[in-house]
This record gives sequence, structure tokens and C-alpha cells, in this order.
Amino acid sequence: MSKSSEFPTILLVTGWATAATVAAFVVATTGQDAPEPAPAAPIVTAEAAPEAAPEPVAETPVAEAAADPGIVIPAAVPLGLGRPALPEEIDAWDLAVLPDGTGLPEGSGDVETGDAVFAENCASCHGDFAEGLDSWPVLAGGAGSLTDRRPVKTIGSYWPYLSTVFDYIHRSMPFGQAQTLSVDDTYAITAFLLYSNGLVEDDFTLSHENFTEIVMPNADGFYPDDRPETEYSLFRAEPCMENCRTAAPEVTKRAVEISVTPRDADGKPAGTLPVLSLVATGKTVAPAEPAAEAPAAEPAAAEPATETTGVSPAAEPASGAPDPTLIAAGETVFKKCAACHKVGEGAKTAVGPALNGVIGAAMAQAGGFNYSATLAEMGAGGGVWDATALHSFLENPKAFAPGTKMAFAGLKEPEDRDAVIAYLSTFGP
Ligand code: HEC
Ligand code: HEC
Repeated sequence: MSKSSEFPTILLVTGWATAATVAAFVVATTGQDAPEPAPAAPIVTAEAAPEAAPEPVAETPVAEAAADPGIVIPAAVPLGLGRPALPEEIDAWDLAVLPDGTGLPEGSGDVETGDAVFAENCASCHGDFAEGLDSWPVLAGGAGSLTDRRPVKTIGSYWPYLSTVFDYIHRSMPFGQAQTLSVDDTYAITAFLLYSNGLVEDDFTLSHENFTEIVMPNADGFYPDDRPETEYSLFRAEPCMENCRTAAPEVTKRAVEISVTPRDADGKPAGTLPVLSLVATGKTVAPAEPAAEAPAAEPAAAEPATETTGVSPAAEPASGAPDPTLIAAGETVFKKCAACHKVGEGAKTAVGPALNGVIGAAMAQAGGFNYSATLAEMGAGGGVWDATALHSFLENPKAFAPGTKMAFAGLKEPEDRDAVIAYLSTFGP
């Protein structure tokens, strides 16, 4: 509590600020004229004070006094602080707007005004069309995407009630300047966001009167939590604590028989997110790469290299030519490599070897390059740059080839590695 603050300080804030709880808050004034050491004095009972701590009491802060077992603080004695909150102070906290319209302030605003206010106050982060700049939240679109692997959750696609939009914006936006928007501007912005989500026409005006007529598309996607009635009873039965098993356990499967990492239909480990650039262009991910299956299918492949020398399955994607979008993405990723590697016509040895024809080639074979002993040995041992090897190497060069000369931290994203491998596959020997 600073002495110089002229504003009342809320001492006790526990939970959601409804009018009722705000009214119960104790508000302390801390103006210059307020006697500073006051807090401790009134909380010491007449009996305890003299014997327990007669002198330092006046300077002891409340917390310390409470920690001292010698000082008794009866709960019922008023702290002697503060005053009841003013109606204005309660109003300032009592912003909540409920789905049925409770708490809506009177006012209105149209889409056109909202567009202008949004452009001025919000577009710097959320974009002119509420599309979300950089990684600021996107506020429009995403309709029908909720069941996708990467749902786009926006006001339009996800939020069940318009009251939340109004309440949230009025309470906390613009980010960093919360509660600077007027009521009418908040109505206008809310109308504009409805328009951006294709829910109203451009001549729409939103007001406290027609507010509750708006039904959000995902209103039915939420329902009251009924688990206390429907499910809890199933779990609340007395648990069995002894002799619970009626028959002897039976082994149905062994770990070696089941794939330890389940795979999705696209051949990637389950839950692997799709490559965003592919999603954007509506392309599907290439079918399972044979190379990715190899280690799981044949656990004994301690020396897979000798078997895969020659035409590596990974070098030739099953689906024919690699995806142009992926290649383009790979070209971008390759900028991280270009400081050390040249590729393409006339590519020469640089800090690292030229990478023409590297996909499917034996390791450490580029002429004119002095490889580390590690990579040279791997190459001599029959190691081949198939997709699996490249993925491991590029993810973490030092882990795959300890002692490698490739001073590169690695590409942590599998998408990036896929892309750069696709890009490299376009350069023949
Ligand atoms: C300085 C950047 C910035 C500005 C300007 C800004 N916002 Fe935000 N907005 C954010 C951030 C950051 C979040 C996420 C906050 C969080 O999750 O706690 C957000 C969240 C939101 C959300 C919730 C999105 C969701 O789906 O969870 C809405 C609605 C919103 N802002 C509306 C607005 C409006 C309307 C304005 C203009 C009056 C505005 N914002 C101005 C940064 C900004
Ligand atoms: C800081 C320089 C540097 C960067 C950046 C770098 N590399 Fe390398 N790279 C090397 C060096 C040096 C070697 C040789 C490693 C050895 O001998 O152990 C190498 C080896 C390789 C090899 C094996 C080539 C062969 O002939 O066996 C491949 C494949 C490769 N790098 C790909 C990449 C890719 C793809 C990137 C970018 C994602 C990249 N590198 C980034 C320096 C670099």
C-alpha cells in the first residue's frame, strides 16, 4: 500500500466480481492523511496485548502479528479499515453481461461504425478483417472447423453466446488499454465482428434491444455439465480393495506384437499435426512412407544400411513426384543450410559438402570434401541417406553422428525436415 496513492485500494478480492460480492468489499483509503501504523493497533485484544507484545504492536504489520502465537486476532473484531464501496466503484467492477442479456448497458452501434472503430483500435493486432495478424488471435472465420485436427476457434465458430463477446471486449480490450471503449463503440464493434463472421448484413445495427435475438452458430455446442447426475454415481460406488479379480490374468498380447507408436492413416505417428502449408492448399499428406514403417516392422534391423543400399525406398516417394508446395517450403527451409551447403547446377564444396543427389546416396561420398571421421565411417559401413537417416541427422546432427563437423542445431519440426528433404530430392547427382 503506497502512501502517496490517492486511489482507494481494494483489499480483498476473492473470485468473480458480481454486484453482491463487490458490495461486500472493504475499501481502504490510503490518502496522505491516513495514519500509517494504524492496522495493527485495533486487532490486538485487550487481554493479549499487554503481556504478549505491548510495545512493538504499533509497528507490527498484520501478517506478522497473526503469525505470532502470542497475539490473538479474534475473527469477529472489525479491522477498523476502509468504508463501504461507493455505487460508482461497484459499477466499475460490475461489468458482467449474461447470455440472457442481464447486465447489458443501454446503447447501440452499427457495422459501419464498428468497422471504423475496429480499424482504429483493434486492427493493429487482430487485422482489418479480424483475421488476426501474425500470432494475435483471429476473431473471424473457422466455421465448421471445430472437428478438424486444428480447429480455428473464433467468436463465430466457437463462442456460444454474444454476451461473452460484448463482455470480453468491453472489459479487456484493446489489449493494454482495457475499458477505454464506450458502450456504443462496444456495440458497434460487436456488430462488426458479427458481420466479419458472416452472421449479419452490413447494414445491421446492434443494440441492447435486439441483442438477445442473435443466436451464435455454436450455441448448441455447449451444454450444462450433467456429469454429477449422469456419471458420478458410477464412480462413487465403494471401490473394491481386495480379491477383486475373479479369474487369473490372461496374456492377450505382447508388446512386440503391437505397434508401440500408433499411426494415423497418413502414416505419421498418431496425433502428428498436418503440414500447415498443405492444409492451406487443401492437399492431403502423402501416404505412408515405406521407410518410416521399416524399423517398426523389422525390429532386428540392426544394419538396415546394407539392405537398403542401392535404390532406397525413401528416395522414391510412392506417390510419384513430390508435392510442389512441399518443395517450395523446403526451399525456404534450405536458407538455414545455404550458408554451408550449395546445391544445384555447378554447386561446389563449401563449409559443408555440395548436396546434389544426396537423397538415397551413400553417406560421406561427395568428392573433394574432408568428412569427419564419424560420417566417413558411417559411409564406409554402408550408411545411406534415406528419409529415416536424414530425419534423424537433420533433427539433431550431433546425436545422429557424434563428432560430426556439421555445426548446426538441427530442424526440430518434422514438417521442416520433410520439406527440405523434398526440396533436396529435386537435385540429382
Ligand atoms: C495490442 C494487441 C491487441 C489489440 C490492439 C487488441 N487486442 Fe484483442 N486480443 C489481444 C490478445 C493478446 C488477446 C488474447 C488475450 C488472452 O488470451 O488473454 C486478444 C483477445 C481478444 C478476443 C478474444 C479472442 C478469443 O477467441 O479468445 C477478442 C474478442 C478481442 N481480443 C477483441 C479485440 C477488440 C474488439 C479490440 C479493439 C477494441 C482488440 N481486441 C484490440 C491483443 C489485442
Ligand atoms: C554451419 C554449417 C552447416 C549448416 C548450417 C548445415 N550443414 Fe549440413 N553439413 C555441414 C558439414 C560441415 C557437413 C559434413 C559433416 C561431417 O563431415 O561430419 C555436413 C553434412 C551434411 C549432410 C551429409 C552430406 C554427405 O555427403 O554425407 C547432409 C545431408 C547435410 N549436411 C544437410 C544439411 C541440411 C539439409 C542443412 C539445413 C537444414 C544443413 N545441412 C545445415 C555443415 C552445415
